[in-house]
Amino acid sequence: MEEHQRRGSHPSLSSLITLITLIATSSPLASAAATLTDDSKCECYLTNGTQASFFTTHRFLDFRNLAKNAGVPPTIAKSDDSGSAPVTSEYFTSKEWTETFWVQSWNNSHMTREDATVLMVNSPNNVYIEANGDRNPSSQTWLTLRTQRLKDFQTAAEIESIGPGFQYLSVRMLARTVGSPGAITALFTYRGSDRLADVQESDLEVRTMDPHNTIQYTNQPSYTEEGEEIDRATKNVTLPNGHPDWTHWAVHRLDWTPKETVWYVDGIEIATISFQTPRDPSKVILNAWSDGGEWSGNMTVNEAAYLQIQWLEIVYNATDENPARKMKRDDDGAAAALSARSGNDEDEEGGCDVVCSIDETTDRGKPVMLWNNGGVRTMEVWLVSWIPSFMLLGMFVLSSGGLW
Ligand SMILES: *[C@@H]1O[C@H](CO)[C@@H](O)[C@H](O)[C@H]1NC(C)=O
Ligand SMILES: *[C@@H]1O[C@H](CO)[C@@H](O)[C@H](O)[C@H]1NC(C)=O
Ligand SMILES: *[C@@H]1O[C@H](CO)[C@@H](O)[C@H](O)[C@H]1NC(C)=O
Ligand SMILES: *[C@@H]1O[C@H](CO)[C@@H](O)[C@H](O)[C@H]1NC(C)=O
Ligand SMILES: *[C@@H]1O[C@H](CO)[C@@H](O)[C@H](O)[C@H]1NC(C)=O
Repeated sequence: MEEHQRRGSHPSLSSLITLITLIATSSPLASAAATLTDDSKCECYLTNGTQASFFTTHRFLDFRNLAKNAGVPPTIAKSDDSGSAPVTSEYFTSKEWTETFWVQSWNNSHMTREDATVLMVNSPNNVYIEANGDRNPSSQTWLTLRTQRLKDFQTAAEIESIGPGFQYLSVRMLARTVGSPGAITALFTYRGSDRLADVQESDLEVRTMDPHNTIQYTNQPSYTEEGEEIDRATKNVTLPNGHPDWTHWAVHRLDWTPKETVWYVDGIEIATISFQTPRDPSKVILNAWSDGGEWSGNMTVNEAAYLQIQWLEIVYNATDENPARKMKRDDDGAAAALSARSGNDEDEEGGCDVVCSIDETTDRGKPVMLWNNGGVRTMEVWLVSWIPSFMLLGMFVLSSGGLW
């Protein structure tokens, strides 16, 4: 009898489903997955992809809304005045910029790239904010790196990270390359050396003389002092059909990890090279250049090519060589401990409790919180966080005398 009465008090199946849905969507994990946060709350960042990794620091440079800094400076036609030119707008003296990049002014007159046939001068005048003149503009402005062939030389653009101590990173940019054949535009990690064989470098390079759907990816060096090519070091990739070619806006991503370097275009893996993966702290560099040599090609006089970038985002681990290294918020001792563990990929949780993502975000540049362990390991916190839900469900089941 009693059994019967209790059965009689059963709620409908639909209200049970509602309850379960309520529990599931209100669990800390499910709700946290969609929560936009800011970097001060994140202790590390977990990337997605084949070499998903934890990184301790996040940088986002947004060039999309800089109308007050926009303006295309006329090219400086005298090589002697190019290197010493000032930066092109106040943006390049802002804290955001100067803490991250410096604009280069070196030239190749003292260099020994054997096949260079043209003097190349990097000029701060070729790095500027430009108003978006697209027919359906997806931003107000972008950052341009310009290279142009002049009568006596090639004027070029390069920006280098302030910190030389990036050691593993995931860098992404919304970018495109436009202009004439005979130039290279590139995003790469770089650790120089006097010996070619000791250079460490992961490259993404667009050769403007190549078809618009091919991109060159390399773990340098891809050749020897004797001029032999090292085929395993480099891949000339044809983008999949239907993919935006390099003249169209696309998110180009380079993941340098301990095991290999992986490149993506718009979230699709395009190339992986595990041969000669860089090991030691490196800089991040972007450029647009040509030296009339075989690799870059020879640009026609007065022609130009441009690397245009709407935003640039990096998550990375910094070594002590890097002044931009992030401090853990609570104390410097913990920060030192955190940075001392850099490169320890056995630590599956990145040695951090509050894990964020820049992939899952709905607002580019702002991280979302994936989970907050508060000192408890993931699986435990997962279980712990569900206990109230399990209890609620248990009480519900008990009070209704079984599930059905
Ligand atoms: C990473 O996540 C984003 C957002 O969900 C997605 O668009 C992208 O394709 C993912 N990339 C990879 C390599 O899985
Ligand atoms: C090239 O750089 C050197 C210093 O490395 C400098 O002396 C020279 O003036 C520069 N030349 C040009 C054309 O900028
Ligand atoms: C890359 O491949 C394309 C298409 O096959 C070819 O036209 C281009 O010359 C190649 N680039 C290099 C640097 O080999
Ligand atoms: C590039 O052009 C310059 C003159 O404009 C010429 O001296 C040089 O030989 C050319 N290089 C190549 C590789 O064609
Ligand atoms: C970055 O540093 C964290 C903390 O030390 C570590 O757990 C993680 O594995 C490192 N990432 C890479 C790609 O080495």
